[in-house]
Amino acid sequence: MTDGAAIDPPLGLLAELTHRCPLSCPYCSNPENLDRRSSELDTLTWKRVFAEAAALGVMQVHLSGGEPTARPDIVEITAHCRDVGLYTNLITSGINVAGAKLNALADAGLDHVQISFQGDISDQADHVSGMQGSHARKLELAAQVTGLGLPLTVNAVIHRGNADRVREMVQFAVDLGARRIEIAHVQYYGWALRNRDALMPTAEQVRTSAAAVDQSRTDFAGQIVIDAVVPDYYARRPKPCVGGWGRRSLNVTPAGKVLPCHAAETIPHLTFPNVRDQSLSDIWHDSDAFNAYRGTDWMAEPCQSCDRRDVDFGGCRCQALAMTGDAAATDPACQLSPFHARMIELAETAVAEVEASPLDTRYDYRRFL
Ligand code: SF4
Ligand code: FES
Repeated sequence: MTDGAAIDPPLGLLAELTHRCPLSCPYCSNPENLDRRSSELDTLTWKRVFAEAAALGVMQVHLSGGEPTARPDIVEITAHCRDVGLYTNLITSGINVAGAKLNALADAGLDHVQISFQGDISDQADHVSGMQGSHARKLELAAQVTGLGLPLTVNAVIHRGNADRVREMVQFAVDLGARRIEIAHVQYYGWALRNRDALMPTAEQVRTSAAAVDQSRTDFAGQIVIDAVVPDYYARRPKPCVGGWGRRSLNVTPAGKVLPCHAAETIPHLTFPNVRDQSLSDIWHDSDAFNAYRGTDWMAEPCQSCDRRDVDFGGCRCQALAMTGDAAATDPACQLSPFHARMIELAETAVAEVEASPLDTRYDYRRFL
């Protein structure tokens, strides 16, 4: 599975400290079955995981969730990550973080904060998040982050309800003092698949939002870094999902499972090892799950003989499974996939009857029960 090549160490670790979250986004990327609080790793185990990660070669840890600050030990964990030499990025909903908690995190050595915004207009953003007043609380946190001199990234998830406001989102991020904005269209697996018809942008929206990204890169040059990903349903070639399976990063779930990507558990025939039973190094190098789609040996045609196979690694395994029933298939985002036309058809069907207003859109919200 690994082409006989040496396995490089991962650069990043996404630590899903908890699945608990105050928001209910309809495109939530957490798995269908959320880990209960009672199954979460304890503080000592997380500390061991971070020490092992640093020894393995990980440079950057993303403290994520759910809402990672829902854990009472978030400051202790952050300080430990700093002590073992990891760069720490807090990925937060922005709820219940502003004030003393952020000050304590900054004192503990937090390096970077990433806040997800559901839009640039408060009532629309609150509607998507499923929580009245959430947007205002995010604004409060963003102001404190930049006031402390911490670098801020705005995370903007794009869908039909806000795809016409990409330029405004960039302006919004600039006004907040963010150094970077990540513009990412919804990925349609897991919970987001339930809301595909409500979230799918039209082809025209995809075109105009891509043009808005290009224009914003010119208009805001030197003010903010813009990272943007083309939505798969309108792409010609897939993105190298997670930089290639088992190649650059790994995720640890609240209960300690180690995954090559956040949606990997949707692949039913894989068994994922747990940090309670094995070291991170053993899991990274030797587990069947990480070796399953590592490198290129596992690929079938058309990927196997394609000159982009070392560029995009055949795209996303989870999307291939969701669309074709085979996780080893070519990602249908690729024009060369026999399922590509089906993917476009699904997108077109989803937007056949578009809602008049984003605030009228009925979502199946994600609730942590
Ligand atoms: Fe990528 Fe496979 Fe498509 Fe080639 S055939 S571009 S390797 S997904
Ligand atoms: Fe799992 Fe893309 S989300 S490989």
